[in-house]
Amino acid sequence: MEQKELVQAAFAARRQAYVPYSGFAVGAALLCADGSVYTGCNVESASYPATICAERTAFVKAVSEGKRDFTAIAVVGAQETEDPHAACPPCGICRQVMAEFCGPDFQIILPDSAEHWTVLRFCELLPMAFGSGSLKGESQHENV
Ligand code: THU
Repeated sequence: MEQKELVQAAFAARRQAYVPYSGFAVGAALLCADGSVYTGCNVESASYPATICAERTAFVKAVSEGKRDFTAIAVVGAQETEDPHAACPPCGICRQVMAEFCGPDFQIILPDSAEHWTVLRFCELLPMAFGSGSLKGESQHENV
């Protein structure tokens, strides 16, 4: 799958965002190693901390369908009344969820428009991530 297709899927997913409190609509499209794509949007709650981000919606959908190997995610966000015009970097909680399932070369695609985006490796987005290896006392140097 082309990066452009994943970006388009993230834009489409953003249209489903449920954001009555922040008005900030986010869409994500997660590419699995088998070529399948799972999309997600943010879903807010009147109890604000119960909100789930678009990226985690996509991961939870994919993992709950048995997927464990992931290649890339496109994330796009902006006020719901506007078209995205700046990168929407994943929040810290979403980065930690990525650390659970993604290796250092997992790609994070961050569009600042429908036509232009920045691509980061996971190890750039969250250097020295705490992960399952940390619980076993393994060195994280290879992930920095
Ligand atoms: N949000 C996401 O969906 N993903 C992120 O990585 C950052 C924040 C959502 C949560 C909330 O609904 C809104 O953006 C404002 O924080």
